[in-house]
Amino acid sequence: MPEAGDYLALDVAGESVLLVRTRELGLAAYYNVCRHRGSQLVAEGSHGRFTSGIRCPYHSWTYTLEGALRTAPFLDEGAAVTKSELSLHPIGVESWGGFIFLNLTPAEAAGRGYTLAAQLAAVPERLCRYPLDELRTARRIVYQVQANWKVMLENYNECYHCGPVHPELCRLVPAFRQLGGADLDWERGIPHREGAWTFTQSGTSTRSPFAGLNDDERVRHKGELIYPNLLLSLSAEHVAAFTLWPRGPEQTTIVCEFLFHPGEIGKPEFDPSDAVEFWDLVNRQDWTICESVQRGMRSRVFQSGYYAPMESASLDIRRYMREKLGEGVQSVKGER
Ligand SMILES: [Fe+2]
Repeated sequence: MPEAGDYLALDVAGESVLLVRTRELGLAAYYNVCRHRGSQLVAEGSHGRFTSGIRCPYHSWTYTLEGALRTAPFLDEGAAVTKSELSLHPIGVESWGGFIFLNLTPAEAAGRGYTLAAQLAAVPERLCRYPLDELRTARRIVYQVQANWKVMLENYNECYHCGPVHPELCRLVPAFRQLGGADLDWERGIPHREGAWTFTQSGTSTRSPFAGLNDDERVRHKGELIYPNLLLSLSAEHVAAFTLWPRGPEQTTIVCEFLFHPGEIGKPEFDPSDAVEFWDLVNRQDWTICESVQRGMRSRVFQSGYYAPMESASLDIRRYMREKLGEGVQSVKGER
């Protein structure tokens, strides 16, 4: 969305969100709802460019890119309309690393200290040598998974399952299989097998590692889970970024984007298939097992799970959920 007036309509947990590039080339987002009678301003899932403000198709009320009501045809201000009170309902927008983050209740979030910086915590520092801002999406795969989004996050949080579920991945990264995935040093990065340095079928690539990585990062793999719905898997020459979009209690759309440096994308021989095909294999193994978990949890005998010590990172999601749901939630069985 490079130009002023560029827009994108997104479905965020059932709310239609209108993301806009403002005149000053900042980002703004609004509920996709006209303040007049509630008509949606643009079609869900659409994108394009506003040339003269945001015009509601119903009665042509028009808003500036900054969300202020500019014209309400044939209505005199004062009689029926006080324009300054009828700005579009705002949605919080912040960005980091080329990603845009939205908050549906920005006033409440600010009051509770739920800023993007607080949410990201030490992630930007840990990934400071990866040129995330510069990377571009070379390939995108969209998966429809019949499982709750939290099942996928818990799965991403542990490598206890890597041995049984991901034989090809464990051949590339034997450390994932050792000790059931315990004692993995994610901070320093996970080493590949001898001679391998990235997440491709061969473990190597003709693409160059990102400039600026340290010696570990040039040959190791890193991963970050940014709550609530962004997973970043970082190799030396590409990044797989997953966003999870809940569509219902048992349904999640997962958008997997493969990010590369523009210097590589611009080469005539550029072909990301080696990374994409390897990831697609691993992804499908994960989604299949997550769907099995979802079906199993429907059973009348399933009350709660048991978390082994090597799954302790999954505590993160339990803490996150409890914090967001508030005081009324009882402690989770098995949590230490
Ligand atoms: Fe997995």
